[in-house]
Amino acid sequence: MSQPPRVQIVEVSPRDGLQAEERTLSTDTKLELLDRLADAGHTAIEATSFVSPTAVPQLADADELLTRLRRRPGVRYLVLVPNPKGLERAAAAGATEVAVFVSASESYSRKNLRRGREETIATALGVVTDAKVRGLGVRAYVSMVIADPDDGPTDPAAVAEIGLRFIGAGADEVSLGDTIGAGTAKGVRALLAAHAASGIPVDRIAVHFHDTYGQGLANVLTAIELGVTTVDASIGGIGGSPFAKQASGNLATEDVAWMLDGMGIETGVDVRKLAETTKWMAQQLGRELPGRAARALLS
Ligand code: COA
Ligand code: ZN
Repeated sequence: MSQPPRVQIVEVSPRDGLQAEERTLSTDTKLELLDRLADAGHTAIEATSFVSPTAVPQLADADELLTRLRRRPGVRYLVLVPNPKGLERAAAAGATEVAVFVSASESYSRKNLRRGREETIATALGVVTDAKVRGLGVRAYVSMVIADPDDGPTDPAAVAEIGLRFIGAGADEVSLGDTIGAGTAKGVRALLAAHAASGIPVDRIAVHFHDTYGQGLANVLTAIELGVTTVDASIGGIGGSPFAKQASGNLATEDVAWMLDGMGIETGVDVRKLAETTKWMAQQLGRELPGRAARALLS
């Protein structure tokens, strides 16, 4: 079994992690989170999203946050944008890398983006083209890649076809989101086989697993064994979508980092520092967080 020497973790807690949280954190607290994540060794962090402030009130301070962000050398900061207006705001606030998002399923596209699947894909492809002209890095998220709670199982080939369109439009990377954590190793293999068949290079693919059924680490391991070297995760396992109640927490970063450390795969992040940040985050949010490794490390 081959394994890569290094895996890039993309830390999504400041965006995906916070977007569904009830308690609104101050911009100062979010900036402290971003500092702490960089201190822990993260080199790719999704900082916020430039979506409609009425849709996601928690991240309504995106403009101020990105403007005040204390950028660290060697750290990539991504921001989520839903449409041209989001790109405009992000660029004005100094974004260097944006992430567009679409759903592989029709139902979730309508819930999350309030438009049909094809329409949102067309909009997002336009944003990718525009972002590239502006010299920005671009990631494309595809959600519900395994199944949708209403539409049922997702066809892996259809997901790969969407990914191929984004890569063709100039996206640097496609992140495959199992938004409701429905996948097991078998589904991940089928999904990545469809991507391999489509010709998308595996180094342009990231995986984004939610740990709803406790399958997150098994799914990451499966993806890594198939050549994937970019993994999304969120400290403490916080996060989910306010537009899909089945989307419980993301896979916890400390859990992923602990596994990769144990396997001798370099991530650059310090698991103990992450665990301290998770503890701090739990205090800020006023609740216990689901991630396992932080609890174990701090007990
Ligand atoms: N930033 C700020 N405001 C925005 C915006 C953006 N990126 N996109 C749209 N708006 C505003 C419009 O200006 C308009 O404001 P107005 O009523 O004051 O004129 C209003 O929102 C409605 O615009 P419209 O284009 O009709 O959007 P919509 O209401 O259909 O919303 C989305 C579509 C996708 C922009 C919105 O639902 C959204 O931002 N959702 C968030 C999705 C999300 O973050 N999901 C979690 C990530 S997985
Ligand atoms: Zn997520």
